[in-house]
Amino acid sequence: MHFAGLKAVGESCTKPGLYYHNNVYGTLVLTEAMAEANVKQLVFSSSATVYGNSTSVQYVEDFPLAAINPYGRTKLMVEDILRDLSAADTLNCVENPWKIALLRYFNPIGAHESGLIGEDPEGIPNNLMPYIAQVAIGKLPQLSIFGNDYPTPDGTGIRDYIHVVDLVKGHVKALAALTGDSFQNGACKAYNLGAGHGYSVLEMVHTFERVTGQTINYKIAPRRAGDLAEYFANPELALKELNWRAEKTLDDMIADTWLWQRNNPKGYDANS
Ligand code: UD1
Repeated sequence: MHFAGLKAVGESCTKPGLYYHNNVYGTLVLTEAMAEANVKQLVFSSSATVYGNSTSVQYVEDFPLAAINPYGRTKLMVEDILRDLSAADTLNCVENPWKIALLRYFNPIGAHESGLIGEDPEGIPNNLMPYIAQVAIGKLPQLSIFGNDYPTPDGTGIRDYIHVVDLVKGHVKALAALTGDSFQNGACKAYNLGAGHGYSVLEMVHTFERVTGQTINYKIAPRRAGDLAEYFANPELALKELNWRAEKTLDDMIADTWLWQRNNPKGYDANS
């Protein structure tokens, strides 16, 4: 399972070389070493960011792909490289062909239910959930909601949030599938890992308030460049071929985030 990727969109625009080197070149080195060792099963952390502009907001795996920033391009390039490696094995009729699952994550949030493992972003968080949690704990003064004039029911952006533990389980299921019948002759297949429905930013804030009893100080701010109004996963393929579906609720995601944040009010302490 290949998780070694950089993932901040903004940073990828200011340090594209770093992103191409780490995410793309790093994957080439990894796949070369794997092929040399004749280990040819791989689960790759891809992203919903590889979907291009589409007419439907519910993304299906065979929708057209495109990327609009260096981070997204690294994910798409790696997907293309892995598809090519797999196709070459078919052309060359190799004995042990690549078996690859490209897992397209939607918006992973939450933490392990023990409260011991969670997300500790460096500096000010870019993503919504860690930002809300840090406002709730008093580390940040106020959440900015990026736009309330989108064509959505309450005007704020809609995303498909998925509990990180469900995401982990998707990886275990994918790895099991690579050894099964559908990958028997080698293949490189993409799967959406999402819940299949979306929540708006305001729904996230209000659900956080209900579940935790905290009040979130927020203001409406201008739209963030590059954001889409709404998208969410069609998760049917993962159910059909991986026997996986997201099981945890938004309340679970928020309760687990909040437990982690309360246990680590200043962030992760390596000495504790
Ligand atoms: C982001 C990345 C995406 C990546 C994904 C992984 C960007 C532009 N996109 O997706 O490439 O695959 O994370 O998790 O960074 N929001 C606010 N205030 C905030 C933060 C976010 O209103 O302080 C809103 C956003 O406008 C959006 C929603 O919350 O509508 C979710 O934002 P975020 O958590 O950053 O995820 P994405 O932008 O969907």
